[in-house]
Amino acid sequence: MRIGTWTLPHPVCVAPMAGVTDRPYRRLCKALGAAYAVSEMAASNPRLWDSVKTSRRLDHTGEPDPVAVQIAGADPDMLAEAALFNVRKGARIIDINMGCPAKKVCNVASGSALLRDEALVARILQRVVAACAPLGIPVTLKTRTGWDRDSRNAVRVARLAEDCGIAALTLHGRTRCDLYTGEAEYDTIRDVRQAIRIPLIANGDIDSPEKARRVLDYTGADAIMVGRAAQGRPWIFREIAHYLAHGTHLPPPTYGELREHLLSHLEDHYTFYGEYTGVRTARKHIGWYLADLPGTDALLPAIMTLGSTEQQSRALRRWLEDQSADAPAIPVLH
Ligand SMILES: Cc1cc2nc3c(=O)[nH]c(=O)nc-3n(C[C@H](O)[C@H](O)[C@H](O)COP(=O)(O)O)c2cc1C
Repeated sequence: MRIGTWTLPHPVCVAPMAGVTDRPYRRLCKALGAAYAVSEMAASNPRLWDSVKTSRRLDHTGEPDPVAVQIAGADPDMLAEAALFNVRKGARIIDINMGCPAKKVCNVASGSALLRDEALVARILQRVVAACAPLGIPVTLKTRTGWDRDSRNAVRVARLAEDCGIAALTLHGRTRCDLYTGEAEYDTIRDVRQAIRIPLIANGDIDSPEKARRVLDYTGADAIMVGRAAQGRPWIFREIAHYLAHGTHLPPPTYGELREHLLSHLEDHYTFYGEYTGVRTARKHIGWYLADLPGTDALLPAIMTLGSTEQQSRALRRWLEDQSADAPAIPVLH
């Protein structure tokens, strides 16, 4: 699949997740097989660019290209300015967020709220594409199927995106009002595939190699994007890519590999966030890595109380060293 001049090596991508797919995690996902990653959403409001949170989101040091940065907002000029600002900071692809259901985002008529104003969608897309085109920077769009189930307008929005020069579209098979409830549906994604020619990435509830295959076959999408199923399981990208290419399963990681990935992820995470924020924000990742592994019932709550990065990584290292390095780290099904 191509996005502008970039060719992805295979069709398995990591979805942007604010508070999760930060630079350390994107680097790890790419190292473990994700063909493409989009940064967490960055605000388009220049007043926020100097905040610690946004500055971290603007830091792409060491991330393999193409660095793709997602922007969110509702003002076409401000979004165009934000796109150019991010290009100066290293973005090679700009992604516009029209899928976020968060109140904070929707109350100012951005994120998925934009789906209710197609004229504004067109103005935003035209303006951002016009700003990026002279620099050779492709602009992509990530959206949902509509505002609610009675007003699914993804096909119209997709055609509009194509007409405005959007280079690729990612579609999450839920409406804004679905939030994350129920199951993602793929009929609308299939309808969109038939309506447009630009590359289409299918997203929503893809959590296994088999599901990835089914969604690709059913929708005809060019690629798939995995979000929540990659939390604590960054090797899912190589597992899916391998299955799509060969029809066979890679073995699960061993405890030895888990130790290597988890500890190097933590080291990168601590360096990125520093001591105070690092130990706190690492907890959710550790929880995801360990939640479904046998024998972690006592370890998990104990780790959550540790207040320094040194204590946190030491406790994990000890536990991991007690496991047989060659044994497969197979999650327990609940
Ligand atoms: C914690 C969290 C944060 C998210 N943040 C973003 C975001 O910043 N931008 C965006 O376009 N989507 C965001 N999403 C939506 C995901 O990219 C994805 O569309 C959604 O989770 C469905 O895919 P999944 O079922 O594979 O998780 C977020 C989702 C989660 C769970």
